[in-house]
Amino acid sequence: MDEGWRTAPGHRLTPIALTNTIRAKRNGGRRLIMIDTEAAVTPAVIEAMARAPNARLREIMESFVRHLHAFARDVKLTEGEFEQGLDFLNRIGQATNDQHNEAVLFSDIVGFSTLVCLLNNGDAGATETAAALLGPFWLLDQPHTENGGSIVRSETPGPALFAKVHVVDSKGAPIAGVEVDVWHASPVGMYDIQDENQAPMNMRGKFTTDAEGTFWFRSVKPAGYPIPTHGPSGDLLRAQLRHALRPAHLHFLCYKEGYKTLISQVFVGDDPHLETDVVFGVTQPLIGNYVERNDPPPAPDVAIPWFSIDHRLVMEPGVASLPVPPVK
Ligand code: BEZ
Ligand code: FE
Repeated sequence: MDEGWRTAPGHRLTPIALTNTIRAKRNGGRRLIMIDTEAAVTPAVIEAMARAPNARLREIMESFVRHLHAFARDVKLTEGEFEQGLDFLNRIGQATNDQHNEAVLFSDIVGFSTLVCLLNNGDAGATETAAALLGPFWLLDQPHTENGGSIVRSETPGPALFAKVHVVDSKGAPIAGVEVDVWHASPVGMYDIQDENQAPMNMRGKFTTDAEGTFWFRSVKPAGYPIPTHGPSGDLLRAQLRHALRPAHLHFLCYKEGYKTLISQVFVGDDPHLETDVVFGVTQPLIGNYVERNDPPPAPDVAIPWFSIDHRLVMEPGVASLPVPPVK
């Protein structure tokens, strides 16, 4: 006679699972599997998920449940705290819309985005990488802009910045024909999509590297700014007495078939918040060489001092794919 409990055709609880975790009880003539201790819950859930045909889904969900349950045991989660956690998750969803992505923000402020980035680039930390987190402000259709063009599309305060960027492969050879999205916040402290006083696509452009792997553009020197704090991520930061500031930076997304899409940021080296970036996004290779210039500027309408930056972005071989845009 079959003594085991079949969860799916051909799939059976091991005797160990039966004896150690889930007690089989007799109920009249029926055999019932009972979860009667807290220790029995975790293997029961893992067992229930084990029939998923997708092996990667099985692996991810088993590990997720193990760690989630271990977390609740570790902190001895109370019922009130459990409810607070569920409310927090619900509020992440409720705060998210086409113009705002609270899930990305939450992942960013707990360092998860940077962790995933560094696990997947630079040989998982073995080599230097220009990769950085995407953040919640990249837009899919940024305007194509000629090399040398300006991405200042409405009146924006701040000193002029002239940026020249060389995109190279890991051997230092230039890569021509790379599509590079550039975006950054206005020095007023907001991106265009947060600020009705900025023209749409202000501080955004899409460039193509020339035969030397280079593109160049005019903007204003970026300044530090606070991430949005009106949602649950902001509540968490306040509860933890953390500031909401990001150090000044430019964003880049480099795309070309045959290369792993490179998402990068380039920080201003003397920003006071480099070491306390609210989203843990600063690594040494991401600090750029912004130079204050007092020599004659490259355009007649530029005041002194102006700034320049000459920067190199290294792309690794791999698959070109675009991230899901966090906002529309
Ligand atoms: C950003 O740099 O655009 C950003 C990154 C993470 C959270 C908020 C903003
Ligand atoms: Fe940013």
